[in-house]
Amino acid sequence: MSANKDSVGGTLKVALLLCVVCSIFISSAAVILKPMQEANKTLDRNKNILAAAGMFDEQMNTNDDVDELFAQFTPRIVDLETGDFATEEQLAELNIDVTTYDQRTVFTDPQFSEALEASEDIAGLKRLVRFVTVYLVEGPNGELQDIVLPVSGYGLWGTMYGYLALEGDANTVKGIGFYDQKETPGLGGEITNPRWKAQWPGKEVYSEDGDVALSVVKGEGQGVHQVDGLAGASLTSRGVDNLIEFWLGPLGFGPFLTKLTNG
Ligand SMILES: Cc1cc2nc3c(=O)[nH]c(=O)nc-3n(C[C@H](O)[C@H](O)[C@H](O)COP(=O)(O)O)c2cc1C
Repeated sequence: MSANKDSVGGTLKVALLLCVVCSIFISSAAVILKPMQEANKTLDRNKNILAAAGMFDEQMNTNDDVDELFAQFTPRIVDLETGDFATEEQLAELNIDVTTYDQRTVFTDPQFSEALEASEDIAGLKRLVRFVTVYLVEGPNGELQDIVLPVSGYGLWGTMYGYLALEGDANTVKGIGFYDQKETPGLGGEITNPRWKAQWPGKEVYSEDGDVALSVVKGEGQGVHQVDGLAGASLTSRGVDNLIEFWLGPLGFGPFLTKLTNG
């Protein structure tokens, strides 16, 4: 004899079955799509690195072009505490795979990061990850051509994440790009505007005595060290100014860049 499908028990059974089928469907989709999501994440990161280095044009490039261009870049892990490249032992101990390591995912892990003192934390980061990935391009004779550094800092509404590309002299800017930020479109969000970003190439980071001189100023920037602030978005502009000062300074990539260029 068949069960009464209109009974409370029958309704619950159908609901339960539906839940099980849906959860199997959703978990399978999540598992099946994971490699695709990871591949898209990597592709997006690579596009951003290329864009910062002035090597990516939205109109021209297919995904294969991105892969081909990105093949020129060598990812290396830098130990910010020493300013040297991380050793094989350090990478093995922390289980870091250079190609997949993402400092953003280990940001709160005390094994990887330390709290910053308020007086040091000019970019509003709260913590500093010790090991970070930089991307290098070498020329035909092994000379350094591009150095792409990940940078981040607080704007008005949240942390802005981007890349700053320098020429092989570790001083001349090739470009900047922000790929994750929460600033208001039309105001702080103008940090992603190509017209604003066009001011950066050719600017110089360090003064003659080695201090970070590159800055985003209110109004019109003058000379090789200043970039115009965004009108009506002084707080975001100050955020960019602060993150430049932090990441190119002594707690950020300053010691690494000095060692890189002094051999
Ligand atoms: C809804 C709203 C959104 C805003 N978004 C931003 C922003 O993303 N970045 C920013 O610096 N200022 C933003 N502002 C403006 C700031 O509150 C502040 O007035 C501005 O940064 C001052 O810039 P100024 O000195 O160039 O005028 C926003 C204001 C409002 C009302």
